Amino acid sequence: MFERLSRQPDDPLLALIGIFKADPRPDKVDLGVGVYRDEAGNSPIFRAVKAAERSIWESQSSKAYVAPEGDQAFLDLLWSMVGGTASPVHAAGVQTPGGSGALRLAADLIRQAGTGKIWLGLPSWPNHAGIFAAAGLEIETYPYFDVSSQTLQIDSMLEALQRAQAGDAVLLHASCHNPTGAPLSAEDWTRITAVITARGLVPLIDSAYQGFGAGFDGDVVGLRAMVAAVPEALVAVSCSKSFGLYRERTGALFATASAEAAAATARSNLVAIARTSYSMPPDHGSAIVKTILGTPELYDDWRSELDSMRERLTALRHSFAAALGERWSNSIAIGRQEGMFSVLPLTPAEVMSLREKHAVYMPTSGRINIAGLKLADVTRVAGLFRAL
Ligand code: LMR
Repeated sequence: MFERLSRQPDDPLLALIGIFKADPRPDKVDLGVGVYRDEAGNSPIFRAVKAAERSIWESQSSKAYVAPEGDQAFLDLLWSMVGGTASPVHAAGVQTPGGSGALRLAADLIRQAGTGKIWLGLPSWPNHAGIFAAAGLEIETYPYFDVSSQTLQIDSMLEALQRAQAGDAVLLHASCHNPTGAPLSAEDWTRITAVITARGLVPLIDSAYQGFGAGFDGDVVGLRAMVAAVPEALVAVSCSKSFGLYRERTGALFATASAEAAAATARSNLVAIARTSYSMPPDHGSAIVKTILGTPELYDDWRSELDSMRERLTALRHSFAAALGERWSNSIAIGRQEGMFSVLPLTPAEVMSLREKHAVYMPTSGRINIAGLKLADVTRVAGLFRAL
């Protein structure tokens, strides 16, 4: 049987992890996969995560199954964090293996509901299209961002969405857009919500970077307003970045609706889909998140560590944009973008030349992980881009 299979290429983003590791050059720079790094280049475990793990180790008395939807206490606390404590909607949550697991579950639900089509902004996280296609969805695209001028294309986006049919799903990023870092303003969210409502579309909002952009609540302001305004929405949440739990695969999918019965029906479908896929979600990461969100001292400590990460990213952005100067038209916008990523207008050949000659690593799309820079190194690295 295996002979009938063809060899698949490695995932280009994940492959960078190994290629970077194998490079012996001491001044190498990793601007690849989206993992937070400190000034020393490490991806530390949050203090609150360590403390929560200690407390779970001491108090947990069983590893028996929890429930098909995961841990309800975790889901309630996580929805309060993302949706807000005053959310007017009914949110039916299902715990998932990371944010990608939530996206796949959402895609399967969209397919099961008979819609079969999702609108995806360009550019987007490369795995979005892969996940939706693997679930059998038809993908339509809308313009989101022009890399050469570093500008959001909100008018073209709204124009494209006018062509969507009732019941189509629309993928949006809550904040810290991956890969462009280009945020939507409150007015943009309102305009998108108006089109979604008028055309009967269903938003699927991917929230993977809460706390890294406009602030902890600022990063979900648009999401909250949209979810409150539309009859139905799907919200995929990743805990990988905000809690630094990458390898623990912790996340959730929330189906929100103005009617409780609709949310409950959506949940029963999600649980049934999960059962035939991975049966039940892993528990360790969600137990950590539940402990942090439910313990005031740990919560405060986690928030202050997350704040300092955001501040470091902002400082790096400003100094990198300043050091690039007028390298490309509007490179200064990189300083105003949010979260870990920006996309530079580089050709694949330029990306490979930076990798080969200078040990600067990024995917060929030109996306850079700002957190992979070091303040001490910004001038040197910006100089390499300027010299291209
Ligand atoms: C990224 O975009 O680099 C991360 O979300 C990691 C991944 O899974 O691609």
